[in-house]
Formats: sequence, structure tokens, C-alpha cells
Amino acid sequence: MNRKPLFITIEGGEGTGKTTMIGRLAAYMQNNSIPYLITREPGGIDIAEKIRSIILNPEHTSMDARTEALLYAAARRQHLVEKVEPALAEGLTVICDRFVDSSLVYQGIARGIGIDEVWAINQFAIENRMPDITLLLDIDPETGLSRIMSNPDREYNRLDMESLAFHHMVRDGYRLLAGRYPDRIKVIDASKSLSQVEQEMIRVLESAILKDF
Ligand code: TYD
Repeated sequence: MNRKPLFITIEGGEGTGKTTMIGRLAAYMQNNSIPYLITREPGGIDIAEKIRSIILNPEHTSMDARTEALLYAAARRQHLVEKVEPALAEGLTVICDRFVDSSLVYQGIARGIGIDEVWAINQFAIENRMPDITLLLDIDPETGLSRIMSNPDREYNRLDMESLAFHHMVRDGYRLLAGRYPDRIKVIDASKSLSQVEQEMIRVLESAILKDF
């Protein structure tokens, strides 16, 4: 069968379980013999990792919101051309932990720059390369943050220090985008048990895969 490699992105606020679910997606890909690459922004690309360490450094409390948005877009660009595009060209389905929607929501909405402004600089960065499907793990921020706090292994970063109101804006922002792009962004209820979330994710994915064959 001639499979079209899909570009899949996973989005969601803090503590939605993205990392766990990405592990389960990897197992699904393996079990179904679908060649794949799992990556995350900035995804082990040296230049992009360096940009990320500037953005997420807890000492950089004075970072301007637009500077942050530009840095994310720059890291995204590098990751896209160095890792995502070559993988898709090789026929791998790419599963990417966060992509442009993160910037639209965190920088555009939660930081208040505006979706259109953030979209404009990201268009420059991604040149129309959008995901085929985006799985949005949705959970109320109180539950998400309490999950994070109970996980001792998780790195703590500058964005975790944001107020609860910020995380609510993130959640609402994602839901707004999902309403705007219902064909691409699929909302998954992440408050359910891990196996239920996994099942729902696979169900959504399979209908997208079938559509593309
Ligand atoms: P990440 O390391 O993916 O954290 P998480 O484990 O929560 O997914 O991302 C770190 C933070 O960066 C996260 O709080 C979201 C934020 N972020 C943005 O604000 N804009 C962006 O474009 C991206 C990719 C991430």
C-alpha cells in the first residue's frame, strides 16, 4: 500500500499527558508497521535547542512577549527544515509534540499579542506547512497542574510559574482554535483514564489515516 506520510501534531496545556500519549502513539505506529518519527519542538536540533534554552531560562523574566514569539518561530523554522521536512520526504509519518498552534495560543492569546500577529510571523517561518491532523489534549488547568506537581521527574520551567488565569487562557485559546479549524484540530478529553484517552486518540487518528489513503 502506498501510504501518504502524515504530519501529526499534539497540542495541549500543562499536564495534559502529551508525553505519555506520544509514547502510546509510537507503540501504535510500531504495531501497525507505519514508519514514523517522533519529535518535539525544538527536537534535538542544535540551533533550535539553543534558542529554546534562552526562551525557557527562568532567569529571563524580562523577556518581551514578541521576542519570545520570534524565538519560538525561529526555533520552529529550524526544526521544520532540518528534521520534519526531510522525514516526511523520506516517507515517515511525523508526530510532533507542539507546533504552530502552541504559539498562536501561548503567545497570541495568553500573552495577548494577537493571533493574527503571531500567525504572520509563523507563516514566514513555516511557509504553509501545516499539520494534516492535530490532536488537542484538553483538560481543565486545575487538574493539569495538579498532575504536574505530583510528577517529580518533570522539568520545571518558566512557563509553569504562570498564574492559573494564564493556563485558563491557554485552554480557552486552544478550544477557540479547535472551533475555527474543526477539520484539522480534534479535541480529545484528557481528563479520562489513560487507556480511554489513548483509544479516543487512535480512533481519531485512524479516521484521518483512512481519509488520506
Ligand atoms: P514543552 O517543553 O513542550 O512543555 P510541555 O511539557 O508542557 O509540553 O514546552 C515548554 C513550554 O513552551 C510550554 O509551557 C509551552 C511553551 N510554548 C510556547 O509558549 N509557544 C510555543 O510556540 C511552544 C512550542 C511552546
